Parts: sequence; structure tokens; C-alpha cells
Amino acid sequence: MNIKAALMTDPGAPFSIEDVELDGPMDDEVLVRLVATGVCHTDLVGKAVWPPEGRPMVFGHEGAGIVEAVGPKVSSVKEGDRVLLSFRSCRQCTQCASGHVGYCEQFAALNASGVRPDGSTVLHRNGTAIFGNWFGQSSFASHAVAYEDNVVVVDEDVDLTVGAPFGCGIQTGAGAVLNTLRPAEDSSIAVFGAGAVGLSAILAAKSLGVRTIVAIDPVENRRQMATEFGATDTVDPSSEDSVEAVREATGGGAETALDATAIPAVIHQAVDALATRGVLAVVGVGEPEVSINITELINRGKSIRGVIEGDATPQTFIPQLLQMHARGEFPVDRMMRQYPFEQIEAAVADAHSGATIKPVLVF
Ligand SMILES: NC(=O)c1ccc[n+]([C@@H]2O[C@H](COP(=O)([O-])OP(=O)(O)OC[C@H]3O[C@@H](n4cnc5c(N)ncnc54)[C@H](O)[C@@H]3O)[C@@H](O)[C@H]2O)c1
Ligand SMILES: [Zn+2]
Ligand SMILES: [Zn+2]
Repeated sequence: MNIKAALMTDPGAPFSIEDVELDGPMDDEVLVRLVATGVCHTDLVGKAVWPPEGRPMVFGHEGAGIVEAVGPKVSSVKEGDRVLLSFRSCRQCTQCASGHVGYCEQFAALNASGVRPDGSTVLHRNGTAIFGNWFGQSSFASHAVAYEDNVVVVDEDVDLTVGAPFGCGIQTGAGAVLNTLRPAEDSSIAVFGAGAVGLSAILAAKSLGVRTIVAIDPVENRRQMATEFGATDTVDPSSEDSVEAVREATGGGAETALDATAIPAVIHQAVDALATRGVLAVVGVGEPEVSINITELINRGKSIRGVIEGDATPQTFIPQLLQMHARGEFPVDRMMRQYPFEQIEAAVADAHSGATIKPVLVF
């Protein structure tokens, strides 16, 4: 079928909305008409580093919409279902079998190869292949092909324009706290970077009743949102020493911390700001190498844990977060701003400048 998609043709060029052909749904595929899709920082990182093979690519991995058709082997999703789209996992490898689907051995192949597992592409233009299948969706488009493992069916009362970012950014921040760090009530957490991921982590920490929640971010409106979301202290790293400020706010060091900046110097600060036996969760995707003082880790029993997608199973964790949202305990909609799909470039510019915390494209 013919659809509209925001093509990335060159990392430096703007997205361009064009007519393309969408293939499928094949046996195990779910065709979704998008109602909304969030813009995640990982889309922008992907756009900047995607291998330039002269073939355009369609990003977008926080889709929400209505199922239009399903392939003959699909049983858990049907036409007309309202769905949120998340990341793919094989559900067969050791990690999937142990319930940690974010660490699926097929994660890269299923989410970031640009093609189906059989090597074919879902998208074409004038008969020429275009990369897609980003997180099993490529939702910067009017329609997407998804899979049972990355589709979350939601109730009638869920606003899809609010639900879209739950599929990645929100699940990532909340899951790093609720599933991995699990700070005790009488403890502290330092969150470096109050973007959509960091702010979701702050709301999750607040829901656990964590005593001291420190938010570090140079952007004023983000620190302000962090306070509204439950941060007990905020730090402006452009005018204060983050490490000293966290030590002071927590009475010596944070028992848990999250890095959602992907900046090596900030990751270093986050380690330094930990208390003895403190744990830092890192989720920021950026510079792969960071220099850390191992002696300090050993002598003070600190640890660093990588976390992908909040170590969550989307079909169980996202409904849990949506219920918290419905009860008013997780007001993530306050950090979202909607843009018509055609204004994707404005949304991306506002994400880059920091003016908008979580842009949501609406179709
Ligand atoms: N691991 C995963 O599964 C996963 C999933 C989603 C996103 N991510 C990654 O998580 C990161 C955060 O995503 P986001 O959408 O919230 O991005 P974002 O860009 O909105 O957030 C980053 C924040 O860091 C702040 N910052 C900049 N310099 C700082 C400093 N010196 N000290 C403290 N804060 C500073 C920025 O002002 C910004 O608010 C990105 O790297 C993204 O790629 C990872
Ligand atoms: Zn797997
Ligand atoms: Zn993401």
C-alpha cells in the first residue's frame, strides 16, 4: 500500500516526508495505522550514525495506533485493536526465556538492522528498497508493520497521543528505577539528565517514596519539571559542582544514580557522586568509551549497571505504568508537546534545543 513516511536520506539533511510503498503484513506481522509517535533521543542518534549506503531509512520507535490487518500467524492482536509499539525481542533465547527480553540475543538484528530477519525490506520507493523495521516499526510514517512481540494492546480509555512515548523513553527511565535500581524508601537517587528518560525515572522514584531525589540538568525548565515531578533538590551543572552538590543533598553520596546524558564526563561525575556501595545505572547511548577509576570502585564497592529499555517486558510493564498515569501518580503527559507529523523538523529542532522535553508527532 502507499503510505507517507519521513525519510532520512543523509544524516545532515532534514527529514523529508514522501510517498513510499509498504509491504505486508506477512504471516507474523501486524499492520498499524499510526495515530501518534514520540521522538526519542535514540532516533536522533540513529539518524546521525546510520551507515550511509545511499539508501534512505525511516526512524521512529514510539508509535501508537490502530491495527488495520494482521498476518495469518498472529493470534494475540486483531484488527481494530488500539496498540502502543515498543522494541522487539525473539522470546526464545536464554535472556528472553528468563524474562529479560531487553537483553535478547537478537536485539540488534530485530531492532536496528533496517531489514526483516529474512533480509527483505518492508519499505520501497519506485521499486527500490528503503531501510525500515527500526525497532520493528519505523513509526515516523502514516502506517507501520509491527510484530506480536512489540505490540502492546491497550484499553479504550488510553489516549494514544499520550501513550506513544511509553514504548521507549518513559519505560526506559521508569524501568531503570522500578526494575533495576529499586531504591529503598529511606534512601537517595541522583538523576543526571532530566530529559524524558530522567524525568520518568524521577516520577518512578517518587512513586516508591524515595527520601532524597536529586536532579542534575543545565536547562532551567527541565529542573523545574523535575521539582514538579518530585525531585527534592536540583543542581545546575553550569554553575555548580554536580558531585559536591549531590554529596551535600544526600549527606555524603547517593545510594543510587542514573545517567541519562550519555556524556562521558557526566558518567564520571555520577560515579564520583555515589555513596559507598552505591549503584549507577547507565542508559544514555552515545560515546561508547568512558574512563573510570577502578580503584575507587573497588575500595568503595560501587557498581555500574547498563540497562536497556528499563529491563522491562512491554506487555506487562507498560500497562502498569498506564495505570499509574490514570491514577494521577505518573503525570508524564506534562512533559509532552504535540506537533503535526508534517512539522517533524520543528519537533526535532525543539528536542535538540531543549525547548521541548518529549515531542509527540500526531497524524
Ligand atoms: N538504554 C535505553 O534503552 C535507552 C532508551 C531510550 C533512550 N536512551 C538514551 O537515553 C538518553 C536520554 O534520552 P532522553 O530522550 O531523555 O534525551 P534528552 O536529550 O532529552 O536528555 C538528556 C538531558 O541531559 C541534560 N544534560 C546535558 N548536559 C548535562 C550535564 N552536564 N549534566 C547533567 N545533565 C546534562 C540535557 O539538558 C537533557 O535534558 C539518550 O542518550 C538516549 O539515546 C536509552
Ligand atoms: Zn531473545
Ligand atoms: Zn528510544
